[in-house]
Amino acid sequence: MTEFTDLAALPQDFAWGTATSAYQIEGAVAEDGRSPSIWDTFSHTPGKIAGDDHGDVACDHYHRWREDIALMKQLGTNAYRLSVAWPRVVPGGDGAVNAKGLDFYDQLVDGLLDAGITPSVTVYHWDLPQALQDRGGWPERDTAHHLAAYASAVAERLGDRVKHWATLNEPLCSAWIGHLEGRMAPGATDLTAAVRASYHLLLGHGLAAAAIRAAAPDAQVGIVNNLSTVAPASDRDEDVAAARRMDGHTNRWWLDPVHGRGFPADMLEVYGVELPERPGDMETIAAPLDWLGLNYYFPAVVTDDPTGPAPFARQIERPGVPRTGMDWEIDANGIEALLLRLTDEYGARRLYVTENGSAYPDVVRADGSIDDRERARYLEEHLAACARAARKGAPLAGYFAWSLLDNFEWAYGYDKRFGLVHVDYATQRRTIKGSGHRYRDIIRAHGERGATGNAA
Ligand code: IFM
Repeated sequence: MTEFTDLAALPQDFAWGTATSAYQIEGAVAEDGRSPSIWDTFSHTPGKIAGDDHGDVACDHYHRWREDIALMKQLGTNAYRLSVAWPRVVPGGDGAVNAKGLDFYDQLVDGLLDAGITPSVTVYHWDLPQALQDRGGWPERDTAHHLAAYASAVAERLGDRVKHWATLNEPLCSAWIGHLEGRMAPGATDLTAAVRASYHLLLGHGLAAAAIRAAAPDAQVGIVNNLSTVAPASDRDEDVAAARRMDGHTNRWWLDPVHGRGFPADMLEVYGVELPERPGDMETIAAPLDWLGLNYYFPAVVTDDPTGPAPFARQIERPGVPRTGMDWEIDANGIEALLLRLTDEYGARRLYVTENGSAYPDVVRADGSIDDRERARYLEEHLAACARAARKGAPLAGYFAWSLLDNFEWAYGYDKRFGLVHVDYATQRRTIKGSGHRYRDIIRAHGERGATGNAA
């Protein structure tokens, strides 16, 4: 196994966490007043999800959350990133707040705090109430205002105990994959709708940030983006330009506006779609952030693709490069490069790796154990790269492994397992994998590093 040697680069009060999201683990989709979200609709549409899987039961976390907190403790984590389900809290999308929906998160937060685990709450991780989709969804401006009203209700209820808030998780996926590529809910393939959705998501982010701060003045508010390093497949001018466009599509479109730089002019030209901008919007979108969240999984090596969809750049498969079970290239240097880019180019003052992890087809041995060495190696290599970035000045304050549990991996269904903890979906039995034990050892060594000379 790779040696993990520079734990001292990470601050003493480092947040060691795991991450999940509501629809991927909770189940209980029709309990206590929850309404359907776009993911209930999408996953029950034949052919959209591998194996026609859906989140109806998922990991049954809604009923098993106490057991799951106990697992977090066994892993030795001190932080947990969860998302709140909008359709539990405001089932109609706007209007009446469902107290029972909030009760669930209230108990969960108390349980986490009792266990010495700091909750980090993401307001929106893709589960838009279907009622709002029926009124146009993210391409419509009202949705941004509804997000803020819902965020306010959550922050009013939890803000006395939750200090760490993210407005959005990976708006790129909601906009580009959900409205342009059609591989995620709501499954649209329309560039104009996608650009409008991206705009309203970021507007919603700014409005929600203000709403959270109004309800919980000491809230630390950030946004979570999935970013990739982007390189051209060759030194041909066309590929170099394609890489620039892919960088705009994947990274700059999401980072520039929230940092007060507006939407990238080159990408506005690439998309050719007018933004639904109104006076004051750009200031709202650029509300100062307390922290930035990076979700990192893979690098992108791209070639020019003039006939493909925007941004007319296609990721290529490089022979011989190691890949995870998602077929995603493995390159730990990417996480280091992105943390440093956020620091140097965007002036980030506090950074969290809000997701990082790998799916592999786990084998459960006869004794019930799971020896997932590839996942453990991925974890070690990426943590080592995080430590390198911190050593070079990135203000990295925490790392959340994706994911605590195997769970519903969206269009891929339950086949792709990202958990540090294995879930047997037939029995809901949880088993900590080898990677989970390795994570626990690293966390422990970090805690003891004064005495251990920094080696895990
Ligand atoms: O499972 C997802 C998560 O919901 C968002 N970030 C990427 C993960 C792995 O695909």
